[in-house]
Amino acid sequence: MTVKALGYVRIEMRDPQVWRQVGEDILGFSSATAEDGSVRLRMDAAPFRYLIERGGDDRFVATGWECEADAFDRLCGALRDAGVELEEGDAAGCAARAVTAYVAGQDPSGNQFELFHGRTQAEGGFRSGIEGLGYVADDLGLGHAVLPALAHAETSAFYRDVLGFGISDALTLPPPVEGVPEMCIHFYHADNPRHHSLALFNGPAPSGVVHLMTEMRTLDQVGACLDRVKAAGLPITASIGRHENDRMVSFYFLCPAGIPMEVGYDGLQLDWSTFQPTTSTVGDVWGHEYNFPE
Ligand SMILES: [Fe+2]
Repeated sequence: MTVKALGYVRIEMRDPQVWRQVGEDILGFSSATAEDGSVRLRMDAAPFRYLIERGGDDRFVATGWECEADAFDRLCGALRDAGVELEEGDAAGCAARAVTAYVAGQDPSGNQFELFHGRTQAEGGFRSGIEGLGYVADDLGLGHAVLPALAHAETSAFYRDVLGFGISDALTLPPPVEGVPEMCIHFYHADNPRHHSLALFNGPAPSGVVHLMTEMRTLDQVGACLDRVKAAGLPITASIGRHENDRMVSFYFLCPAGIPMEVGYDGLQLDWSTFQPTTSTVGDVWGHEYNFPE
């Protein structure tokens, strides 16, 4: 295993302030707006975890994966050997991400990913504007991302065999409606104890990402966030529930750009040296009644 964690995500917005407001007021992140209008959202010791860039569209852009300098060189070689076209980040791109070096490419399903090393430390500790709010992040990364992977087998093999992610669970669920294939989600861990930092779903996602996950430190913090989502009138796309595989208690709501956000607590952290990958056919222990707006 060589990828350490999900270090950042990039999102494009015609008006980044719309995302800033939800990030700050609902999720409790802190924010900084740059001269070019881009917004950086912080949730831990990292300089930022969410980069909201100004652009012509509202959409999810890319995941950014963190590794050590030696792993970076090795993984870039492995990616090129696998025929992946890599774009090397320039000085301005590195400065925008607060990293020493990064490359950008696409996985076999067309999801844009970045790989980086040498992130600079943020100045000063993180403090949420919401009293007492804190996250399970830092060495565990920002949470997890579930990506659409229509080329499912190929994309799963790419993250496993080229980038070195470890499989945690393979979940299959009956087709949501008759005549479509069964749903299949592969859950992958990076080199940190979080049950999964990445998951790959064998269906589409209009926003570019199936969902992102933010983990809070207590159930009360999740409940208070649910109250803020309701008060703001934001769409709740899954009621509170507990997942079977990572045991996360969470709910889902819709963030700007149509990006579903899972807000959770109590996700499993595991010792990979003794772990046996699982397969499952049940998504939830209880709850998680899904309700996607048209
Ligand atoms: Fe999730």
